[in-house]
Amino acid sequence: MVKKIFSGVQPTGNLHLGNYLGAIKNFVELSNDQTSECVFCVVDLHAITVRQDPKELQNNIRETVATFVASGIDPKKSIIFNQSRVSAHSEAAWILGCSAPMGWLNRMTQFKEKAGKDKEKASIGLYSYPVLMAADILLYDTTHVPVGDDQKQHLELCRDIAQKFNNDYGLTDFLKVPEPLIQKQFSRIMSLKDGLKKMSKSEISDLSRINLTDDKSQIVNKIKKAKTDPLPMPSNFGELEKRPEARNLLGIYASVTNSNLEDLIKEFSGKNFSQFKESLSQVLVDKISPISLEIKKLLNDKKYLDEILLDGYEKANKIASKKIENIREIVGF
Ligand code: AMP
Ligand code: TRP
Repeated sequence: MVKKIFSGVQPTGNLHLGNYLGAIKNFVELSNDQTSECVFCVVDLHAITVRQDPKELQNNIRETVATFVASGIDPKKSIIFNQSRVSAHSEAAWILGCSAPMGWLNRMTQFKEKAGKDKEKASIGLYSYPVLMAADILLYDTTHVPVGDDQKQHLELCRDIAQKFNNDYGLTDFLKVPEPLIQKQFSRIMSLKDGLKKMSKSEISDLSRINLTDDKSQIVNKIKKAKTDPLPMPSNFGELEKRPEARNLLGIYASVTNSNLEDLIKEFSGKNFSQFKESLSQVLVDKISPISLEIKKLLNDKKYLDEILLDGYEKANKIASKKIENIREIVGF
C-alpha cells in the first residue's frame, strides 16, 4: 500500500536541531522511500496565529523551503508548497471547525502554553490552530503524519475531527483517519540551557538551540556552553532519569549518529563532560554544517525556491481542490 505522508513546518525562523531530529530527518527518510507519496507544507497560515513581520515572513517561507531541500528532500519527488496559496485549507478549516466541539479544543495544551495567562487576548486563530492542522492533513487523504512529540495531541484531535465529520454526515470512510509517526526515542529535543525545557524557536537565548544555519564555530561554542551537571558522564541508563541535561546531550548524539543509547553510555561512562562535548561538537558539525552551507547557497537563488513553491502549489492544489469540492457537496453547498 502506498503511504500518503503529510507534514507541516511553520515559517517562523530559527529552524533548529529539534525541528531537524524531531521531524525533518524523518521527512527525508520517508521521501526516499519508494512506497511513500510525500507532501511537505510550509504552514504560513499557522505562522500568523502570532504576530509576524510581513517581510520577515516572506523570507522565512523561502528559508523553510531551502531547509527542506538542503536537508535532502528532493522537490521533484515530494510536493513542497506554502499553505496560504491553496485556499482549500482555509475553507476546509472553517467547515471542520463547525463539526469540532469547543470542549475538545479547550483541552489543547499548546494553546494554554502559548496563550499564557492572558487568554482573552490570544487570537481566535491561535485557538482554532489545531482545526486548520486537521484540514491540512485530511485534504490529502493522508495515511501517516511525521511530527515531533509536541504535536501528538493535535494529531489525536485531527483523528477525532475526521471521525466526527464522517459521523455527522453519515459517512464511513470519507475523511481518512491518519496515523501519527512519532519517533519512539528522541522525539523531543530539549534546550541546551535547561534539560527540562523543549528546544524552541521562540526561546530568547540563542545559546539554547543549534540553528540549522549555525556555522562550525557557533556549534562548537554552543556545545561548549551547554548546561551539564557536575558529575562525570553517567554509567547506566537509570542515571539518565535524574540527569536531564546528560540525557538530552546523549540523546542528541545518538539521534544524529543513529546509534544506540546504551552503547553510547558505555563508551563515555565516567569520562568528563568536556571530552564528550568535543565528540558531540564533531558529530554535529559533520551533520549540520553541510546543511547550513547548502541553505545559505539556496537562499541566494530566490528564483529557484519560488519555482519549487509554484510547482508544489500546482500539484497540491489539484489534490486539495478535488477533496474540498467533495466536502462542499457533502455539507450541501
Ligand atoms: P514547528 O517549528 O513548531 O512548526 O515544528 C516543526 C516540527 O518540528 C514539528 O513536527 C514539531 O513537532 C517538531 N519539533 C519542534 N520542536 C521540537 C523539539 N524541541 N524536539 C523535537 N521535535 C520538535
Ligand atoms: N502544528 C505543527 C507544528 O507546529 C505544524 C503543522 C501544521 C502540521 N499543519 C500540520 C504538522 C499538518 C503536521 C501536519 O509543528
